[in-house]
Amino acid sequence: MLRHRPTRGRRTAGLLTTALVALSAAMTAVAPTHTAHADTATLGELAEAKGRYFGSATDNPELSDTQYTRILGSEFGQITVGNTMKWQYTEPSRGRFDYTAAEEVVDLAESNGQSVRGHTLVWHNQLPSWVGDVPAGELLGVMRDHITHEVDHFKGRLAHWDVVNEAFEEDGSRRQSVFQQKIGDSYIAEAFKAARAADPDVKLYYNDYNIEGIGPKSDAVYEMVKSFKAQGVPIDGVGMQAHLIAGQVPASLQRNIQRFADLGVDVAITELDIRMTLPRTAAKDTRQAADYGAVVEACLAVSRCVGITVWDYTDKYSWVPSVFPGEGAALPWDEHFAKKPAYHAIAAALGGGSPAPGGDCTATYRVTSRWQGGFTAEITVGNGRTAPIDGWTVTWTLPGGQSISHVWNGYLTVDGQRVTVRNAGYNGTLGSNASTTFGLQGEGTAGTPADVTCTPAQPFGTPA
Ligand code: XIL
Repeated sequence: MLRHRPTRGRRTAGLLTTALVALSAAMTAVAPTHTAHADTATLGELAEAKGRYFGSATDNPELSDTQYTRILGSEFGQITVGNTMKWQYTEPSRGRFDYTAAEEVVDLAESNGQSVRGHTLVWHNQLPSWVGDVPAGELLGVMRDHITHEVDHFKGRLAHWDVVNEAFEEDGSRRQSVFQQKIGDSYIAEAFKAARAADPDVKLYYNDYNIEGIGPKSDAVYEMVKSFKAQGVPIDGVGMQAHLIAGQVPASLQRNIQRFADLGVDVAITELDIRMTLPRTAAKDTRQAADYGAVVEACLAVSRCVGITVWDYTDKYSWVPSVFPGEGAALPWDEHFAKKPAYHAIAAALGGGSPAPGGDCTATYRVTSRWQGGFTAEITVGNGRTAPIDGWTVTWTLPGGQSISHVWNGYLTVDGQRVTVRNAGYNGTLGSNASTTFGLQGEGTAGTPADVTCTPAQPFGTPA
């Protein structure tokens, strides 16, 4: 019987064609076997096998997108209500509570067997204006009433609550929110006490951004948690939001998670996204993937780091581009629901799949018609691996005078003369020895580019 070893490492296209022929003969004789769970497990399942959860935030408007909800419901073990548990939605006017939108998300998560993080009870943002008008002497009561009502409403249905969100400035001082100004330093402890009184079981978290690494802000949170523990203020965990920038994951992340854990609280990565300057490129994807992997590894290295939540999972619904102009592509799935290298890095860090050998898919460019001033071409993408490809990117340099008017069966980005085409949602997965095509219409003189290169996304798993 024919035996083969999986091909690894970068290969030239010529070598590959030869290898493919040999491989195709081999593959008909030897069916590839894959390590079962690495190939098929979801991020939620992989995390669960490590005693953690892997979740996603979501928001109501997206729930009518069925392609979106299919992945949301199957890939994650945990859901965070991204917007509609905030004060502006739940108590839009004093004493009038409305949980309709929040319930929609919680119901969906429950029907998918997912745990839910409530987000968030006390925050200076998305706060209805009436709260700002409450006289100083009444605000503590108003805050307690809000917490009591909302925590009680969801009692028994949530695993975690972000009780207080973003109460510190970068220098470690208290943010001068209306709560800070009218109630004073004690408002945070009072918020936790009210939440505990309303539900003794749900885990109560302080949540903030830019506290992932060790620095003045995380030091201040650290001191607060330490004093809460000393005084018996009921805090169970610290949420590190982790709205990060590719290439800038704090080196002290794991040490920082560990020092909080050592105070006797859990830690969760609550709002992970890793943004890049647009446009997205293969190099930035690679950087981002390594960063996602590093965050997952840091969490796994500390036993009290209980789980990771991405701040939504697809670039289609990321908050990043609207808040950080010129930045985006921050999530593990792209806007067309194709898995990015970041997805595979997360899976690999959670013990599934393995890093891509890289370089072993092929792209063959063929001009299919030409006329005065224009042409069409068809590009065949082939899988030269023994493991399935779960996404591909084809790049080339535009010959002078050419431009591309549109692409079908793929997604086009052009950065100067650099052309990048990524798979569509439906043609990214190629079994071993399979191929697919995409097409383009161009302007200018037809001519085959010299440097057409295919890069596969990382595979589901490696052959046995
Ligand atoms: C963001 C939501 O994603 C947006 O849809 C909304 O417009 C603003 O809030 N830190 C938090 C989250 O704690 O609540 C924020 O969510 C993102 C930053």
